[in-house]
Amino acid sequence: MRRRAVLQIMLAAAGMAACRAEGGVGARANLYDCEGCEAVAERPRDGMASAARLAGPDEPGERLTLTGVVYATDGETPAADIVIYAHHTNSDGYYANGEQTTEAGRRHGRLRGWVRTGADGRYRFDTIKPAPYPDMTMPAHIHLMIGEPGRRPYYVDDVVFDGEFGVTERYRAAQELRGGSGIVALSRSPQGVWLARRDIVLERHP
Ligand SMILES: [Fe+2]
Repeated sequence: MRRRAVLQIMLAAAGMAACRAEGGVGARANLYDCEGCEAVAERPRDGMASAARLAGPDEPGERLTLTGVVYATDGETPAADIVIYAHHTNSDGYYANGEQTTEAGRRHGRLRGWVRTGADGRYRFDTIKPAPYPDMTMPAHIHLMIGEPGRRPYYVDDVVFDGEFGVTERYRAAQELRGGSGIVALSRSPQGVWLARRDIVLERHP
């Protein structure tokens, strides 16, 4: 009896493992491990446009426009109705002067915002170029968090700028590649605005 019970437990466990594997082929088990991702749902998605301004004209720093296309997991089909929440440091490397009404507002600083993709999957953030943290422990970066309809939010690899401080071979090798690589090339428009493109491929869900 006892041996049969053990066997049944083992078979049940194997079955559960198989189900999990089928449900999340290619998915990261830790996809939803994310500090601060609750900020994605802080605003109603219905009112969001596909472009947002994070930094007003009085914000110190060099102007930066971040654009991209969000693709479905196939990497080809533009994904509509995807919320992207972005936040980044100011030109001194601080998350400063945020709204005090929510924890994310306090912790993420003033330079944050939301967009929602349309049918073409495109998004755009107009902002300033962030600076590295003052202790220079990381490259300058822009955090991106993704909200798919009816799904738990998750983060994708930070946007960082190729060739700049901290974007080393070691950094490159350590990328998680969530949503694809976050290392982007910078160019400059004739008006002197930094241009960066970060396409995002949606992650599979566990
Ligand atoms: Fe950060």
